[in-house]
Amino acid sequence: MTKMSMKRILVVGSANIDFLMTTPYVPAPGETIVSEGAYTFVPGGKGANTAVAAAKLGTQVVFCARVGDDAYGDRLISLYKEHGLDLRYLKVDKLEQTGLAVVLLEKGGVNRIIVYPGANKRINENDIENAFFSYPDAIITQFEIGDTAVISAARTANTEGVPLIIDAGPARRDFPLAKLEQVEIFSPNEVETEILTGIRPNTLEDCLRASIALSNAVDIKYVVLKLGARGCYIYDGKYCDIISPFDVQSVDTTAAGDAFTAALTAEYLRTGDIIAAAKYANAVGALTVTKVGAISSLPSSLEVKSFIEEYGK
Ligand code: RIB
Repeated sequence: MTKMSMKRILVVGSANIDFLMTTPYVPAPGETIVSEGAYTFVPGGKGANTAVAAAKLGTQVVFCARVGDDAYGDRLISLYKEHGLDLRYLKVDKLEQTGLAVVLLEKGGVNRIIVYPGANKRINENDIENAFFSYPDAIITQFEIGDTAVISAARTANTEGVPLIIDAGPARRDFPLAKLEQVEIFSPNEVETEILTGIRPNTLEDCLRASIALSNAVDIKYVVLKLGARGCYIYDGKYCDIISPFDVQSVDTTAAGDAFTAALTAEYLRTGDIIAAAKYANAVGALTVTKVGAISSLPSSLEVKSFIEEYGK
């Protein structure tokens, strides 16, 4: 693919360092347990994971973000450069530290995450309006930055006629969804769906009820529910479809949802076909859970291609 025909995605989102620790189980209040694994500080953040995932899949990516003026910020910027992200709209914030996430990884790959947003919360309207001068084909944002930044990204996307993709993590019941106006793709995971709608998407009927509830709250073209090991569910206001998962051994689910959204957007821009995009995104999400870490677990387009070919045999 030539540079000219490559689509450009603007990611407005968080950049974190993840403090990752494995644990046999989550301790009860007052309980102390000893982890047998080593701890690490690895690059993560929902925005950065999405941006790097899209770049690794062959998309041009503009990353609008803020990191602190500290060693973690320096480390993240070097990594983004290695992955070829356009960093013209990334700011080094003098007032706040680089965002940090504490990731507790339980046996079986389930994670629990607490985020200190730091510089991520200081992404502002100006940062976002400037970033639209990169003329993106789509914009992806998540809720790990300030509400006003998310709403400003949505408003600018709608004014400029740029398709808006929302990855609804971390979800809050009181987020003012109606202010997003028009959304091309809205994609929460199971927990986020329950927080936003009060409906856990366990059955197909629950998926439909939750999708309708989301569509009643905001004008959405496609609701795509990420159902983890059960694949994903698509609703377009009339029709729905469940897209089967790829069966893999999960070691760490961190960043799988971010990689899914990046792949969904990249493939949707390339083909205009939401079903094909969801199948591709399922493959990317599946590959991501087979490795530990956030950015370190993201697959390249070649890895995805051979995984899909191999899986189909
Ligand atoms: O989605 C996974 C990410 O959530 C982690 O990398 C962590 O930084 C938190 O933002």
